[in-house]
Amino acid sequence: MSHELRFDGRVVLVTGAGGGLGREYALAFASRGASVVVNDLGGDKKGEGKNSTAADKVVEEIRSCGGKAVADYNSVEEGEKVIQTALDAFGRIDVLINNAGILRDRSFGRTSDHDWDLVHRVHLRGAFKVTRAAWPHMRKQNYGKIIMTSSTSGVLGNFGQANYSAAKLGLVGLSNTLSIEGRKYNIHCNSIVPTAASRLTHGILPSDVMEALRPEYVAPYVVYLCHESCPETGGVFPIAGGWASQLRWQESAGAVLFGKGGSVPSPEMVRDNWVQVTDWSGQKQPKTQGALNFPELLARLEEAKASSMSESSADSMSAN
Ligand code: NAI
Repeated sequence: MSHELRFDGRVVLVTGAGGGLGREYALAFASRGASVVVNDLGGDKKGEGKNSTAADKVVEEIRSCGGKAVADYNSVEEGEKVIQTALDAFGRIDVLINNAGILRDRSFGRTSDHDWDLVHRVHLRGAFKVTRAAWPHMRKQNYGKIIMTSSTSGVLGNFGQANYSAAKLGLVGLSNTLSIEGRKYNIHCNSIVPTAASRLTHGILPSDVMEALRPEYVAPYVVYLCHESCPETGGVFPIAGGWASQLRWQESAGAVLFGKGGSVPSPEMVRDNWVQVTDWSGQKQPKTQGALNFPELLARLEEAKASSMSESSADSMSAN
């Protein structure tokens, strides 16, 4: 049952593809027939400077194996220019991997405006700009696959990464909404939460872990998620060293609180019932994104209000 997953005729743009994870994605897509745009600004890991060498080297690697690739040296902040490179070289854009990234770690109190803004500009605004530029082309051709690169620091938080974690969880929100808006245009959008050895994790991950978590192990998952046969959209997938899973939100069953006669509950009532609000025993696992299920919520509120009304009339009857 092994039909090779091919990308012949598809155009794939990988941002930040001059090294680390992005390079592995670019090589993997090219080896399966895709025409690849290797975007990389070529700065250092803090986002300073620029250089065309990183992207050029990856393009050279792909071409030397007989693959098709062009380099793009624009910052992802210049989304229109990045997408224009794909259109000029190959005439279309089918797959977009938002991968470019930097770190400017500081404990929260020491985070400067610049540390905050630069990280947001590259990760969140950069992904927005490139994706928005690709969007009308994907809509028109009724096809598109988009990946947003999040992080465990975004999902769980991490000391010293307030700027990065806020941007990285923002990307999950962006991905969730694009998966909803893209559905009718056959545009799929998923988030990944990778962990891999790269210059970003050098000195953070121990050396044996670095060896086990080589970035090439992440690439096959990204390739599958972006293949036309993959139905996934709106998912969040942790991937590391050949292991992968899916994340989703959970919600406790919750509690509806009304004061007597359906009145607004007091803060003391909230305090006294907090255990019920946060009781996980009847947890729900939302399967789809989207707004609250309003009809269900209103029905539950009506029911709870009615019972608080009957309790209060019982109270007043007994008081009489
Ligand atoms: P990396 O530093 O090797 O790759 C990032 C690439 O993005 C670099 O080649 C850099 O030149 C490029 N880049 C930076 N700013 C750019 C800009 N404005 N425009 C275009 N290119 C730009 O790091 P790595 O680890 O491969 O990271 C790839 C992505 O994965 C990043 O978004 C990172 O935040 C994310 N990530 C990585 C994890 C890991 O364990 N390596 C963990 C969680 C997330």
